[in-house]
Amino acid sequence: MGDSVYDIVSMRGLLMSTLWIEWPMVVVGLWYGQAYVMDNEHRYTLSSFPKNSLEIIPVDDVYEYLWESSFDIASETLKVDFLQQMQSGSLQAERYISFTMQDINYILKVTKMLEEMSKDQIQPDDLGDFIKARYLSYKEYTDFMLKRFSFKSEPNIEPTPEMLNYLSVYNELMKDPLYFAVGLLPCARLWTWLAKNLETPSNNAYYTWKKENMDGHPEKHYKDLLNKHLDTLEKVEKANATFRIQMQNEHDFFCSS
Ligand SMILES: *[C@@H]1O[C@H](CO)[C@@H](O)[C@H](O)[C@H]1NC(C)=O
Repeated sequence: MGDSVYDIVSMRGLLMSTLWIEWPMVVVGLWYGQAYVMDNEHRYTLSSFPKNSLEIIPVDDVYEYLWESSFDIASETLKVDFLQQMQSGSLQAERYISFTMQDINYILKVTKMLEEMSKDQIQPDDLGDFIKARYLSYKEYTDFMLKRFSFKSEPNIEPTPEMLNYLSVYNELMKDPLYFAVGLLPCARLWTWLAKNLETPSNNAYYTWKKENMDGHPEKHYKDLLNKHLDTLEKVEKANATFRIQMQNEHDFFCSS
């Protein structure tokens, strides 16, 4: 009996020192079977703690981490009927027109939200500058689209339930510009990625959609900002969840088109 108590104590000692040597950092959280380790400069997740506890995934680059964590939804989106038929050229024109009208409503509404937010004194300054720059960019694109389709004034378009849901999430995110930025990113990254990955030939009626969206560079605007400000585990988790919700909303938009 004395022996078994001794065994337990020495096992504990071994475990403690192993932990100390392997991870000279602080475990700050357990979440759905994953452990997170943080030090001042790095954010890590340990997958399936403790089973694969030596497999440390660095999340230094939160910008990439967000995309990779929801990449399954991007892949699913590429497969939806609307995009597959766009790629093959069999998509009925009416469906494309409806999609475009919903998109025009989206850019109108998101531009309005960005405009409203950019009137506030957003802190820190770089986040405020980001919101202002996104506002100007969205406004320029919206004006271009309205002109392209000969709208003299802003059209009043009835949103689909999917679009209504998507826009209501944006509305909620307005309370915190950092997460509004996170919420904008799925659209920016997904459209670029879809356009690059659709094998639409140049003589296809929907080639313009590919051509106009494939050269986006969302990293120019988002990467440094998000990597700088999403600097705690709590923020990474919240951003990760927000990003995924908006990726799902993008998916649902394409899926319902
Ligand atoms: C990020 O989201 C993915 C997909 O939902 C999840 O598997 C992962 O645990 C999340 N990571 C964090 C740090 O919240």
